[in-house]
Amino acid sequence: MSDETSSNTSHPQGLNKGLTNYGDRDFARYLRLSFANSTGRSKELLSKPVIGIASTFSDFNNCHRLVPELVAAVKAGVLQAGGLPMEFPTISLGEAFLHPTSLVYRNLAAMDTEEMIRAQPMDAVVLIGGCDKSVPAALMGAISANVPAIQLVTGPMMTGRWRTERLGACTDCRRFWARFRAGEIDRKTIDEVEGNLATTAGTCAVMGTASTMASIVEALGMMLPGTAAIPAVHADRLRAAEATGKAAMRLALDRITPDKIVTQKSVENALTTLLAIGGSTNAIIHLTAMAGRAGVDIDLNRLNEISDRTPVLVDLKPTGPYYMEDLYAAGGVGAILRELKPLLHLDCMTVSGQTLGERLAEDDGAFVDRAVVKTREAPLQPQGGLVALFGNLAPGGAILKRAAADPKLFETEGRAVVFTSLEDLANRIDDPDLDINADDFMVLQNAGPKSASGMPEAGYLPIPTKLGRAGVKDLVRISDARMSGTAYGTIVLHVSPDSASGGPLAAVRNGDRIRLSVKNKTIELLVDDAEIARRLDADPPQAPKPTRGYGMLYEREVLQAEHGCDFNFLRAKPL
Ligand code: FES
Repeated sequence: MSDETSSNTSHPQGLNKGLTNYGDRDFARYLRLSFANSTGRSKELLSKPVIGIASTFSDFNNCHRLVPELVAAVKAGVLQAGGLPMEFPTISLGEAFLHPTSLVYRNLAAMDTEEMIRAQPMDAVVLIGGCDKSVPAALMGAISANVPAIQLVTGPMMTGRWRTERLGACTDCRRFWARFRAGEIDRKTIDEVEGNLATTAGTCAVMGTASTMASIVEALGMMLPGTAAIPAVHADRLRAAEATGKAAMRLALDRITPDKIVTQKSVENALTTLLAIGGSTNAIIHLTAMAGRAGVDIDLNRLNEISDRTPVLVDLKPTGPYYMEDLYAAGGVGAILRELKPLLHLDCMTVSGQTLGERLAEDDGAFVDRAVVKTREAPLQPQGGLVALFGNLAPGGAILKRAAADPKLFETEGRAVVFTSLEDLANRIDDPDLDINADDFMVLQNAGPKSASGMPEAGYLPIPTKLGRAGVKDLVRISDARMSGTAYGTIVLHVSPDSASGGPLAAVRNGDRIRLSVKNKTIELLVDDAEIARRLDADPPQAPKPTRGYGMLYEREVLQAEHGCDFNFLRAKPL
């Protein structure tokens, strides 16, 4: 056995790490190696540093279809660098295949990843994922385990074609569905479109949550430079996987743990990038949860400060015309980061072993397609894509994606039209007698993190059919729910505390007046505080609570959106 793996060193490595308890360490080592021999690997290979490969392949996760190919390429990289690759399964969260929502299971996946990294002998871990919750879940777990870790994403889908139109999941899904609801296209057409929205392996093709998470994790320093935007089916993705395997070995040997990379400064770099790409509102929740694992808090007031100074530079759907494959061809996330240089902390360490500044300097002068990635001097918008709102309706804050909203609705007051639950919404949204006008504010209650619905991506309330048919494309919509990163509209989300916790949102009644001011960053219910308190007292939350299993743990421990919807006991510093 080499010195590297000797149990006599102060830092046991490889298969000598974390021996099983039998009350006899030498026996435990003997037994482990006996069993390891049964895998057919040579003694020489079994003595190498171990690189765990957390695989999230699942038939229930279409976005992860090519994970086996990536695992093979990572293994090749690890072997070339002199390590022992060891693949292991972790929970996989396929966005469209989970009930009630994938968010509910993100923390379960994070716990699974954390515990398996900690319990199994590995000197570093490669985290392979891509679909919305997979990336934050894996990183939350790895940050808590604090074993050297590197993220590899599965990469975005390529776009498809329907007649003359270029299509990508899932902004175009929503656009065509809205047209179908408005009676502009028929059933045959919507079925044809369905077959062309998601035509390759990979994650959603637009700047939705998966692409946003990939981009900000590259900015955070937890992914190899230049790898976030490589399409899933591009050969470069396999080369990126091989390089990730090699990088994992460097991280293991240099003992570069996540706490050296995920810091207050690198989290601000990720936040700045999120705002500059007009990224998904979900990413605020996930970045907050990841940062919380490292003991870093994201204050929504700080988000607003960074948002006000950060221009929107990227013209991808859902707000622009382009897709992730275009961003890759345009220069990738590196092109965005180079443009943002004066706004970033360049001294942050990354998994490449370089600081962010060193990494970016290497690519100075590289090609950038300015149709896709704008300059700071001529941005798409002068301020960041997201803004936090406060007021008596959202004492803990709420989020508006101003990059995807209609500025005509930014300074408005409207009459509340309230839906008390998702069921209520589904039952009445298409009622021709629904009392609603284009200048009303739609309000959805009981769709937050504490609700039985598990904070679904339901904040993009559909335009009522009667308004859609009259040509209304947007109206103010307010809820404690989330919104898909592929959606758009003047939509106030993550209202906190949520209504299932007895937040003020639960006190809104039909006909109340609500005032939105993006300029002042406020959302106000124009009802006396005493009357709000009286309504909340008279009508406390009554949803039945789960009495066993993970559902009970989730309901008891989940935090509000401004704390990332993490479990309190998993944070580095519980609240
Ligand atoms: Fe997996 Fe969109 S459904 S990324």
